[in-house]
Amino acid sequence: MKNGLFITFEGADGCGKTTQIKLLTEYLQNKGYEVVLTREPGSVGLGQKIRELLLNYDDEISPVCESFLFLADRAQNVDIIVKRNIDKGRIVISDRHTDSSLAYQGYGRELDVDRIDFLNNIATGGLKPDITFVFDIDVETSMERVGKNKDRMESAGREFFERVRQGYLKIAQKEPDRIKVIKAADSIENIHSQVVKLFVELEEKLS
Ligand code: TYD
Repeated sequence: MKNGLFITFEGADGCGKTTQIKLLTEYLQNKGYEVVLTREPGSVGLGQKIRELLLNYDDEISPVCESFLFLADRAQNVDIIVKRNIDKGRIVISDRHTDSSLAYQGYGRELDVDRIDFLNNIATGGLKPDITFVFDIDVETSMERVGKNKDRMESAGREFFERVRQGYLKIAQKEPDRIKVIKAADSIENIHSQVVKLFVELEEKLS
């Protein structure tokens, strides 16, 4: 590939993204692709400090401040990891990206979704993922999987996570070509097959 690809994984906490990222990475490497993994928040050095604040700061953070911290981390991830590696023809996979801000800060924290979209564009310089997998999981299962040891975001409560879930579904409806919703209640193997099928469709479209 002359120009690389940018793939993002999204979904509520405990949706099984991590397992699927690992499986897709193995699949792509076996096909001869060079794959670079990153995540938001906390991809590179400074991002890790921002992640620490976002997930462990133990006093109130205003929703707007929270948004800007995620966006600052995103700008760092895009400029330093994502763009540079795409330019080298690699496939970059990011565990969370712009749609997390729309779902969590827009729908979850009930900030203006169009404004978050606008700010996302500033953080990314307009770069868009080639494909995004959203793993849809019911709130009950998600909360069970997260368990008792919750970070600051995971402690936001049931109604918040219901809004996040519905938010993801709304975002996906707006961009069906890019965003593919996958039911997370299926087996690991079946989900992986769906991810691969969608990736192959993208490959064919781009070839
Ligand atoms: P993380 O431990 O990476 O969660 P997960 O394994 O579920 O991806 O924590 C990231 C948390 O930050 C997660 O609760 C989602 C949240 N988040 C936002 O609220 N907005 C954002 O823009 C991003 C990138 C993450």
